[in-house]
Amino acid sequence: MARFTDRVAIVTGGGSGLGRATAKLFADEGAKVAVLDLMQDTAEAAAADITGAGGTAKAYAVDVSDAASVHAAVDAIATDLGRPQVLVNSAGIGGFAKSEEESPDRWASIIGVNLTGTFLMCRFTLPYLLDGGGTIVNIASNAGLMGQPYSAAYCASKGGVVNLTRALAVEYVDAGVRVNCVAPGGMRTPLTKGFRLPEGADFDVLRPVMSRIGVSEPEEVAECIAYVASDTARYMIGSIISIDGGLVTYGGGFPKPPTSPTSPASAG
Ligand SMILES: NC(=O)c1ccc[n+]([C@@H]2O[C@H](COP(=O)([O-])OP(=O)(O)OC[C@H]3O[C@@H](n4cnc5c(N)ncnc54)[C@H](O)[C@@H]3O)[C@@H](O)[C@H]2O)c1
Repeated sequence: MARFTDRVAIVTGGGSGLGRATAKLFADEGAKVAVLDLMQDTAEAAAADITGAGGTAKAYAVDVSDAASVHAAVDAIATDLGRPQVLVNSAGIGGFAKSEEESPDRWASIIGVNLTGTFLMCRFTLPYLLDGGGTIVNIASNAGLMGQPYSAAYCASKGGVVNLTRALAVEYVDAGVRVNCVAPGGMRTPLTKGFRLPEGADFDVLRPVMSRIGVSEPEEVAECIAYVASDTARYMIGSIISIDGGLVTYGGGFPKPPTSPTSPASAG
């Protein structure tokens, strides 16, 4: 069953990882997909994958943290593909740092992309969504729902996305626009490959923020996003949906290997 036939869906960060998997799934289900990314080449490659498989997609080079860039792109999408009806905000950046060493510029850019970028995309897409209905799915993280060491900017940005979602959900509940948020745990995408622990960091403090069952594939999370964006999820409004291997619920923590065959952890 195609859930998005002829609907115009905007997916930010659509050139890579979760955004790319989501753009593909939406196109497979009939959407005309606007693939937005800072990296024009990856956006074009993702759109070409979709069109090569018989779907409809168009790439747009956009910096979501820049209001003029966002405004121009959303208006161009409406002209090229039609009225946007679905918005998925997947563009995001991150990285580890000890807070006493964090660069103010990097703090500003993480907040700028993850939080302000999500707001700006909503701000300039909402007039179209309000003109006949639509839905927004913001992408937060387990890090928006719990403390994660060496990640103050990322946690603050994703915590902001969580409550931005709730604020928009109640503001537009009577206007035919549903706003929800999906909060993934670790996914196998390029994002985390570039993360480096700060010098002197204690790896053990990261155990509690890692799911015992490892990471998910972005395609699994895309399935969750598609459900939330579909009409079947009519009753889901302002929800924050964790898909994180149980991490936020039980607190995570890879089991520590026993330190010796006779340690209490391994005895009996
Ligand atoms: N990978 C994980 O483990 C994980 C876990 C929880 C949440 N998330 C969130 O999921 C979302 C997708 O992450 P991913 O893992 O697919 O990462 P990714 O790096 O594979 O994809 C992110 C995309 O966003 C784009 N982007 C970055 N800055 C941008 C900007 N200013 N304007 C437009 N596009 C920009 C990048 O070019 C990239 O294509 C992010 O919001 C991320 O915070 C990821």
